Amino acid sequence: MGIIIKLIQSALCCLFLLSLAVKNHAAVIDVKTKGAKGDGVTDDGPVIMNAWNEACGGAPPNTLLFPPGTYMAFPHIKLTGPCKGPIEIKATGATIKAPSDLTLFKKDTWIYISFVDGLTMTGGTFDGQGQQSWRTKNCNNDKAACTKPVNLRLRHVSHSLIKDVTSIHSKRFHIAMMGCDNTTLDHITINAPGDSVNTDGVHTSKLNGLKILNSDIKTGDDCISFGEGSKNIHVEKVTCGPGHGFSIGSLGNSPNEEPVQGIWVKNCTLARTDNGVRIKTWPGGYPGTVSDVHFEDIVVDKVANPIIIDQNYCPFRSCVQTSGPSKVKISDVSFRNIKGTSTTQISLKLNCSAEAPCINVELDNVNLVHTRGPPAKSRCFNIKPKIVGQVVPPACSA
Ligand SMILES: *[C@@H]1O[C@H](CO)[C@@H](O)[C@H](O)[C@H]1NC(C)=O
Ligand SMILES: *[C@@H]1O[C@H](CO)[C@@H](O)[C@H](O)[C@H]1NC(C)=O
Ligand SMILES: *[C@@H]1O[C@H](CO)[C@@H](O)[C@H](O)[C@H]1NC(C)=O
Repeated sequence: MGIIIKLIQSALCCLFLLSLAVKNHAAVIDVKTKGAKGDGVTDDGPVIMNAWNEACGGAPPNTLLFPPGTYMAFPHIKLTGPCKGPIEIKATGATIKAPSDLTLFKKDTWIYISFVDGLTMTGGTFDGQGQQSWRTKNCNNDKAACTKPVNLRLRHVSHSLIKDVTSIHSKRFHIAMMGCDNTTLDHITINAPGDSVNTDGVHTSKLNGLKILNSDIKTGDDCISFGEGSKNIHVEKVTCGPGHGFSIGSLGNSPNEEPVQGIWVKNCTLARTDNGVRIKTWPGGYPGTVSDVHFEDIVVDKVANPIIIDQNYCPFRSCVQTSGPSKVKISDVSFRNIKGTSTTQISLKLNCSAEAPCINVELDNVNLVHTRGPPAKSRCFNIKPKIVGQVVPPACSA
């Protein structure tokens, strides 16, 4: 009997060791053992790219590990797939820093991850050191300034999870995502001052199936901007401010834009932002569609334009020449349980296009109070919203 138990025990032990061995097969490629200095001065970029290539090209699963430290990484860090299988980038406790000198950047991206299926990215602070660059020209006014780099660009990074990642002081957008299907951003922290220029928190375009959850975005431009071809995006428990709030668009500025369809923004708070929830399209311009967009359980705290559809979005002199009503069609939009304070009197503005009036827009249980002075008002053009429950200020009644 004793011998049988001993045999079983040693068999279990062997199985245990075997399973450890199988686990250990997953290679950890440590950038420091590969030669990264992590001293915050030396350019560790080439080492990082080589380590990525090794992890990406090796038998999966592999992990690219940044031990705690500060890694200076010069432009442009390209982490390109496809990899042999799922891959992880682990950077908990590590800071990766871009040089502050804008003239070193010849392309519009600092860290560029592309064509990776099944990426898990955990931890790490990506510091764009953009403070100087914000003082140079805005991209929208000057094409040359559009080479300002995005901190983290993800192209065709699908079935992936990006969690506990921090992006600070980007020179331009913090995280730009395109072609990333069925990917999740969870517990993302974004931090840049309210006067930093063009620093959208997360920008999405041409992707299907994205979740942005439990995140905190403080920046100088849109908190999350949903560009053309954004489909089936769920945003939940995100706080914004400072910044310009949640923005669909801007749309209609270029030909053949793909539809924006299926956006759900739920249980989010905006504090001291320029806008709360916004859909913006350019006057004149090109056709497009926005449909199936739902904002629900949103708290606004001292926001300038809490609810706004602006089909006459024209921040620059150039768009005045292309004026005329917007050709972008907006339909099936709901604003449900939206509460809080507005720093301007027009807390609810729905300015739809005379050429393409907004269709099937619902306001359900809205309460927006002007922070001081006369009570809040609404302004509506080319729209007859369906009113459910109580809506304050009274919307589009006169
Ligand atoms: C994304 O996920 C949905 C639901 O799980 C699935 O039906 C769809 O095929 C996936 N899309 C891609 C591109 O993987
Ligand atoms: C989400 O809702 C819960 C319950 O109402 C609330 O406590 C929390 O602050 C909300 N989160 C955000 C980001 O608004
Ligand atoms: C609404 O849009 C029209 C152009 O369609 C513009 O002339 C008008 O100034 C806008 N009104 C407001 C209040 O924004």
